[in-house]
Amino acid sequence: MALLKVSSVETLYFDRIYALFGVSLEVEEGEIFAVLGPNGAGKTTLLRTIAGLLKDQPKKGEIVFDNRRIHGWQPESIARLGVVYVPEDRGLFKELTVRENLELGLWGRRDADVARDLESVHGMFPILRERAGQEAETLSGGEQQMLALGRAMLRRPRLLMLDEPSLGLAPRIAKVVYEALTAISRTGTTILLVEQNARLALGVARRGAILEAGRVVLEDTAKALMEDENVRELYLGVGTADEPAQGWRQYRRRRRW
Ligand SMILES: Nc1ncnc2c1ncn2[C@@H]1O[C@H](COP(=O)(O)OP(=O)(O)O)[C@@H](O)[C@H]1O
Ligand SMILES: [Mg+2]
Repeated sequence: MALLKVSSVETLYFDRIYALFGVSLEVEEGEIFAVLGPNGAGKTTLLRTIAGLLKDQPKKGEIVFDNRRIHGWQPESIARLGVVYVPEDRGLFKELTVRENLELGLWGRRDADVARDLESVHGMFPILRERAGQEAETLSGGEQQMLALGRAMLRRPRLLMLDEPSLGLAPRIAKVVYEALTAISRTGTTILLVEQNARLALGVARRGAILEAGRVVLEDTAKALMEDENVRELYLGVGTADEPAQGWRQYRRRRRW
């Protein structure tokens, strides 16, 4: 069953600049769904539209989460349903400590499972316990991403939306973050992530879509996307230099979508 269904969504900036031209996709309960695409494709806009962060948007179309039509809702109301968005800049409070940032993830929770959830986040990212008293801005990029993920998990997401979790990270660290995503997924959390790094994202995703210039040009299983000739050349850099994140820049061949 689709947990999230985005249908023919159109989003504009300043009521005149189109960023999404009728985007449709479905994210099923429990899966990792990856939206790939070059810089400027509309990936961030898509996540912000779903989270209700763009005023009076989407202009057209429908967003259904857990059988509720959430487009037009206030961001707080959408978040209360369990839609948790981790922005590209991680959204941390840099001058607060690691512990204080995690406590913000617990804000509003009064249930008895808080201690257990905190324990499980520390189990997943032991570094967050070691660095508990340290200011967030003193963490490395990878540690900050782990803090952002840990804080997001404390909000008990039903849908975790991540904007370019590998951005700015050394390949080795990006891999650790992606292993954490797999672990989070195993707890039953549905994940919608957007990435320029197709290789990393398709390595963990069950399904995905390619977004180009505000349109979904392809949607399929991760396996099928990895085997698609265009995706391989443009996004995985197969046959070009071994630099996957830059594969899409090398438009050597005409695309067939
Ligand atoms: N705040 C904004 N105001 C006006 N245009 C924007 C704004 N944010 C993004 N855009 C435009 O919308 C398009 C999609 O941007 P974005 O969603 O950030 O793409 P991506 O995340 O895939 O790089 C781009 O053409 C970008 O210039
Ligand atoms: Mg973006």
